[in-house]
Amino acid sequence: MAGAEIHDALDVLIRLLMDEEAVEEVVILEHLPARLLEVLAELGVVTRKDETKWRCTVLLYPVVGVYVVSDRTRFIGEKFPDDVVYAAITGNTGRFLSIQPQDPGEDFLDLCCGSGVAALLAASRGAKRAWAADLGQRSVHFSDFNGRLNGLDQVIAVQGDLFEAVGEQTFDVIVAHPPYIPDGANKLLFRDGGEDGEQIFRRIVQGLPQYLKPGGRFYCVTTATDRENESLQDRVRGWLGEKGDDFDVFLVATEVGKRPATVLEAVVKAKGKLGKLGDRSELYERLKVTALFYGTVVIERVAKPRAVATARTLKAEKAAGEAVEWFRNWEKAAAQPSLSAALQRSRPKLAREMQLHVVHKPGESGLEPSEFTLKAKYPFVFTAVAEPWLAVLIGMCNGQMTTGQIYEQLLAQDVVEASLTFEDLCQVVRLLISNGFLELEQFPLPRREALVEALV
Ligand SMILES: C[S@@+](CC[C@H](N)C(=O)[O-])C[C@H]1O[C@@H](n2cnc3c(N)ncnc32)[C@H](O)[C@@H]1O
Repeated sequence: MAGAEIHDALDVLIRLLMDEEAVEEVVILEHLPARLLEVLAELGVVTRKDETKWRCTVLLYPVVGVYVVSDRTRFIGEKFPDDVVYAAITGNTGRFLSIQPQDPGEDFLDLCCGSGVAALLAASRGAKRAWAADLGQRSVHFSDFNGRLNGLDQVIAVQGDLFEAVGEQTFDVIVAHPPYIPDGANKLLFRDGGEDGEQIFRRIVQGLPQYLKPGGRFYCVTTATDRENESLQDRVRGWLGEKGDDFDVFLVATEVGKRPATVLEAVVKAKGKLGKLGDRSELYERLKVTALFYGTVVIERVAKPRAVATARTLKAEKAAGEAVEWFRNWEKAAAQPSLSAALQRSRPKLAREMQLHVVHKPGESGLEPSEFTLKAKYPFVFTAVAEPWLAVLIGMCNGQMTTGQIYEQLLAQDVVEASLTFEDLCQVVRLLISNGFLELEQFPLPRREALVEALV
């Protein structure tokens, strides 16, 4: 629509409310009653850009099947408002929306809600009560408005510092897209996550033992760090405190960077011009940061006693919520002591998007296979150098033989040492499944086609 001619009132409103463009007053008055312009100005929805043009202070757009009103995305040459209502059409919120669970439970909480878009989506997917909580009063007001705009009475907008906003309420599903940019000064509410960027994320995780119901799940898109001698997953588990053993912890990275500044810059770039970040290397040096994680953290509280899982992967950029849910379900199953018995009967087969790269080198009898590299491309991204016996094992995973039969064949053909136990083999098969090289009938990996279908 941007740049196209204005023919009628709808064009004017689209140009103002959806395209973030200024429109000449004479053009507006050609198509809209003067009184309407006055009312919009009185409500603060439009403001003068200059003597001849008006523009909107807010944006209206459809996203994930609902209409959302938020602040604009561009504040060129203007001060960024401290309590800006974060637009739901940024790349980061897109990633956050792509991992929202299909089943939002009865009581759903969108923490750090901004426009409340995740609560709106949850309400539209059947949540009985979808709480939208933010520290910024303006975000709470917009979330309430957005609930009404969509006729979603289940949306309850509340203000407060993280869980303070919801009192004693507990939840089936909690989601958060918190501020995570390191900034000790905490100037911008939507952006700054304290000195190390993790302070809000950490406080949310610390609150989960109190606010997540048994069987409840937490989904968060954030940036966080691995530190010397302490992986992010161990740090997250530590924040859960005494109740840590009641929770699974899953990390599904979209991006992992060994050079923090680079990833941080990429994350920030995706959000627009947010001001000068400066070099974080001194901070990361001091905190002994070894790598930066950007992606989804899922934490699940067990419903009844079982072994809990801690697992981490890197997903393909285009893989969305299905990959996260697959990983959560598979890793939960794989952490149970019954894994070997289940694998014994299962018939592993090659994942559709795995590859085995073989380098042949001249040997006694001409060209001989000498180096094997496994590559998974979708939904998880992984490259691993493989021992020759692993290549033979993978070749046997044709969906016909059970893992038990494969084990017997490996031993019979002297492919593996006799000391390799069936348990050992199960752990190898487990890793090959976790990283997207093999799949089981009971746990089919999400396909690219399914994602395309979901988007159309
Ligand atoms: C990156 S924005 C995300 C907004 C929205 N969830 C989205 O994805 O579009 C982070 C939000 O966290 C809110 N916030 C910051 N500190 C908070 C706190 N201590 N308690 C609750 N909300 C907070 C900000 O006001 C902002 O709306």
